[in-house]
Amino acid sequence: MTDTSSLGANAPTDTTVAENADRPQTTDRHEDTPDSWTDYAFEGEPKLSVDGLDVHYGSDQALDDISIEIPEQSVTALIGPSGCGKSTFLRCLNRMNDRIRAAEVDGTVTFEGQDIYQDGLDLVELRKRVGMVFQAPNPFPKSIRDNIAYGPRKHGTVQTDLLAKLTGRDDSDQEDEIVERSLRQAAIWEEVNDRLDDNALGLSGGQQQRLCIARCLAVDPEVILMDEPASALDPIATAKIEDLIEELAEEYTVVIVTHNMQQAARISDQTAVFLTGGRLVEYGETDQVFENPKSQRVEDYITGKFG
Ligand SMILES: Nc1ncnc2c1ncn2[C@@H]1O[C@H](COP(=O)(O)OP(=O)(O)O)[C@@H](O)[C@H]1O
Ligand SMILES: [Mg+2]
Repeated sequence: MTDTSSLGANAPTDTTVAENADRPQTTDRHEDTPDSWTDYAFEGEPKLSVDGLDVHYGSDQALDDISIEIPEQSVTALIGPSGCGKSTFLRCLNRMNDRIRAAEVDGTVTFEGQDIYQDGLDLVELRKRVGMVFQAPNPFPKSIRDNIAYGPRKHGTVQTDLLAKLTGRDDSDQEDEIVERSLRQAAIWEEVNDRLDDNALGLSGGQQQRLCIARCLAVDPEVILMDEPASALDPIATAKIEDLIEELAEEYTVVIVTHNMQQAARISDQTAVFLTGGRLVEYGETDQVFENPKSQRVEDYITGKFG
């Protein structure tokens, strides 16, 4: 960590004059962003560490030279206007972009010090440890129990099928425990414990999203990536998800994309602001970023002047 206080206090003024001249919504990707604007210092080793990350979709650049370190057991919020690369960035953290043909990823991402883009990496294991929850709840059209047990069965943690029973192994009790533990952790157990064999698609949107979080928790992840997990939900369901995220951060590392700045301010410990051109402009403690941003463009964005 370098001189945030001295450089951070002085450096922005030079650029803000030019930036503010007429168009705060500048598309100048080469605007100077001093390292001190994104050089967030925290205690302990980073859980995820990203260095010089570029992503292109064909000839379009979606992320430009992103470097960021994410601390464990906390909530990191990613904010910024639509199209600035937040989802692309999140997908880089568990190699979900591998599934998008046009996406070309350069740079390094390490998870607990291990390069996740190295040849031969076990992607199933990576995505188990770095799980993901999407914008629209996407339960399988199966029972609530089967949704939660899906991952542990796939990974061989529990064996409860007919073959297992015939060969004398039946982990039904263990599976029941995982189902209950995961649903409790996702704060939905009380609402569904009397209908575990009902189809998950019969749940409300907010319940479905907590079910998807429970499904993610069932395989014991370390990191949970969430891409606007509450944007399709009503305010009450949103509040439940927000409470849940804060609780989860006591045990897990949560990285959440949100277009809702109040939400980021409420639930996150640190905030990364992406702006046009796929650039990370500011990263720091959430209170500092919202109350005293170093970048004028970030201040304009946060105060609603654009975006
Ligand atoms: N699958 C894709 N194929 C091509 N371009 C994409 C794809 N996904 C995103 N993009 C482009 O990359 C840029 C960043 O998109 P995205 O990461 O979705 O931003 P955000 O989540 O911040 O709205 C946008 O210009 C978008 O059009
Ligand atoms: Mg997005």
